[in-house]
Amino acid sequence: MNICVIGTGYVGLVTGTVFADLGNEVICIDKVKEKIDSLNKSIMPIYEPGLEEMVKRNVIDKRLFFSTDLQGAVERAEIIFICVGTPPKDNGETDLSFVEETAKGIAKYINGYKIIVNKSTVPVGTGDFVRQVIENNKTDNANFDVVSNPEFLREGSAITDALSPDRIIIGAPTKQVAVKLLELYATIGKPMLITDVYSAEMIKYASNAFLAMKISFINAIADICELTGANITDVTKGVGYDSRIGHAFLNAGLGFGGSCFPKDIQSLVHTAERFSYDFKLLKDVLDINKERVSHFIKIIRDKLVPAEPAPAVVSRGHKQGMGDLQGKVIGILGLSFKPDTDDMRDAKSVEIINILLNEGAVIKAYDPVAIENARKILPDIYYCTSPYEVADGADAIVIITEWREFKLLNMERIKNLMSKPFIFDGRNIYDTERMRKMGFEYYSIGRL
Ligand code: UDX
Repeated sequence: MNICVIGTGYVGLVTGTVFADLGNEVICIDKVKEKIDSLNKSIMPIYEPGLEEMVKRNVIDKRLFFSTDLQGAVERAEIIFICVGTPPKDNGETDLSFVEETAKGIAKYINGYKIIVNKSTVPVGTGDFVRQVIENNKTDNANFDVVSNPEFLREGSAITDALSPDRIIIGAPTKQVAVKLLELYATIGKPMLITDVYSAEMIKYASNAFLAMKISFINAIADICELTGANITDVTKGVGYDSRIGHAFLNAGLGFGGSCFPKDIQSLVHTAERFSYDFKLLKDVLDINKERVSHFIKIIRDKLVPAEPAPAVVSRGHKQGMGDLQGKVIGILGLSFKPDTDDMRDAKSVEIINILLNEGAVIKAYDPVAIENARKILPDIYYCTSPYEVADGADAIVIITEWREFKLLNMERIKNLMSKPFIFDGRNIYDTERMRKMGFEYYSIGRL
């Protein structure tokens, strides 16, 4: 099939590449010329395991093309995928201006029947909006249909997720249109569900909201574990064995970040509000998530700076006795919002590091792939080339992202390099007993 993918962000680039790998002819379009130029030289704009190899292979085989020529791509394509960004506005509402601009572009060049597929995460009703924008702006008398086909891929495992999704959702206005999409996905051999367009749009938000709810739920339970002396690792294991619940997305820690969950949950709350439904449950999910960082910082302060009798003196915007980290050397392991990605969007590291800096700490940090991106957001810290360099002379190590390599460190060496053996583990990657036996002052989440 001839496919056009508009937008070469995470979703667009991975989707286009995977469709090409499945044997289709795909043109990926972006308005940013530098990005297209780089992609044409096989330079990836993101770090994603397996992506570069797959792009190269399909470019060589002449199934995958990158271009800024929207007209040519729209004219050739049978199916056009909209994969542009849908950032949040200040009030949580989804900003659809890129979707609108794209729909206008399609309208300008449409020259015959096309299926237009929304893959971007968009609020219920956006299918109607896209249809309207194209109807109002098209110059040709061409027919078209608008489909919702949400994407569920995760950063860090995007290729595997796109090639082997749990399900494929096709929200189509008619059976004939759905069948065309079924054909496209047939080789993947995964369950496909055909729904109306509204339901498909809602499935994406409901899925992300449910997963975020699981995370906030287990984080709340972790807080209660800390208060009562229960151990969140054992609690999670025990709860997860219930097949109705499962173990996935029950890792307590610093909460969820990234480019999807925070914005999508806010967007769903906003959509509900538009229909006068107060989605209190999801507001709590967001509130619990927001409190993760301050809770973690409190643990760090309490342990690193033993409480003194509190004088009523205020210095640098915070009260002494609350914990002053002036001059403490703190090593950070992990900067990206989760492992296997260089994405720093809504990464907990940014919030945590800024608070520590504000309290006078000196920060040394290491991440396997996100340092280049981190430098742009966190210019005032020292970047290291290994976890051991981070440990050298550190008063404490703070684990923010659970990269696999951190689980395999030589902890004896780490301890010997540190000034003081404090470890604050925001992702519970180590065994409490083992760490304490090794002589670490080890503090984690939901485990005493
Ligand atoms: C998510 C959805 O999983 C995916 O289906 C959708 O298409 C896009 O949004 P992504 O943001 O790439 O994917 O990452 P994900 O693996 O879902 O993790 C999201 C956040 O939740 C991360 O910050 C992660 O650290 C956190 N998380 C995840 C937890 O804190 N605990 C967990 O148990 C799982």
